[in-house]
Amino acid sequence: MRKEKGNKISVIGAGFVGSTTAYALFMSGIASEIVIVDINKDKAEGEAMDIAHGAAFVKSCDVTAGDYVDTKDSDIVVITAGLGQKPGETRLDLISKNLSVFKSIVPEVVKYNPNAIILVVSNPVDVLTYITYKLSGFPSERVIGSGTVLDTSRLKYELGKHFDIDARNVHSYIIGEHGDSEIAAWSLTNIAGMSAEEYSEKIAGSTDMSFKTTIPKNVVDAAYKMIEKKGYTNYAVALAVTRICTAILRDEDAILSTSTLFTGQYGIDDVYLAIPTVINRAGATKIVDSHLLPEEQERLQASANILKKHLNEAGI
Ligand code: LAC
Repeated sequence: MRKEKGNKISVIGAGFVGSTTAYALFMSGIASEIVIVDINKDKAEGEAMDIAHGAAFVKSCDVTAGDYVDTKDSDIVVITAGLGQKPGETRLDLISKNLSVFKSIVPEVVKYNPNAIILVVSNPVDVLTYITYKLSGFPSERVIGSGTVLDTSRLKYELGKHFDIDARNVHSYIIGEHGDSEIAAWSLTNIAGMSAEEYSEKIAGSTDMSFKTTIPKNVVDAAYKMIEKKGYTNYAVALAVTRICTAILRDEDAILSTSTLFTGQYGIDDVYLAIPTVINRAGATKIVDSHLLPEEQERLQASANILKKHLNEAGI
């Protein structure tokens, strides 16, 4: 029975990302109801039971497994279903496999949740978010991709380690594809009012700027390295998804680098790509198209072209 007053979040996919996301959402206390849906019903039920048994340790939240009908009237539907990268595979290599998965999932999500915000996490997330936008017929602000919210956290983590400061005090963004063509936007980086270069010279006492090459590479390579070691990633992406859901449900007007539909910003149109975006209860309501350096704009446009090429090749 739908709880009238609380926030309901449904998670489609009970794999590593989906089950960890359900767990992170449960721990966050932002939802009063979480429904987990998976083609493997036993898996969904097992994950829901295991999470629900922590009920005595967190704020009240019903966690159950169900079918699409049980997701009815969700505030947010998080889609994590589909295949993940295998060692050496890029996210874009997953398009054809996950396209067919989405063609079966999205109509069911829309049928029972015509007013929900859909948050796409499955990869390649920018392409699959665009496909969800097209298949759902929802306004673009209600179709959001997790984008580079995770990559931005990885960048902040790396810069925090490099400068021995709390990652939460590093303002910076990864923009573009959640993938190999993503860009570290140094022009948007701010540490206590200083650029990364200024902070390095003035506070860290170093003129060695090689971190501007090594750190973005570490961010791009991160998922590949973890997939080689453990076969998948799940924890940080689950926290990134929880951050986005919190910004939505608390109507925060938070600026997050979600995958958002471009409508002409930087000369880019009709493609989902990660860019700083205002997130609130209505969804992705405004792209914050800050000033970028010419080289950053060129790379963003190149990233957009790569995604559009793959969308065209997939017949979308
Ligand atoms: C990663 C997956 C979520 O970057 O694409 O860990």
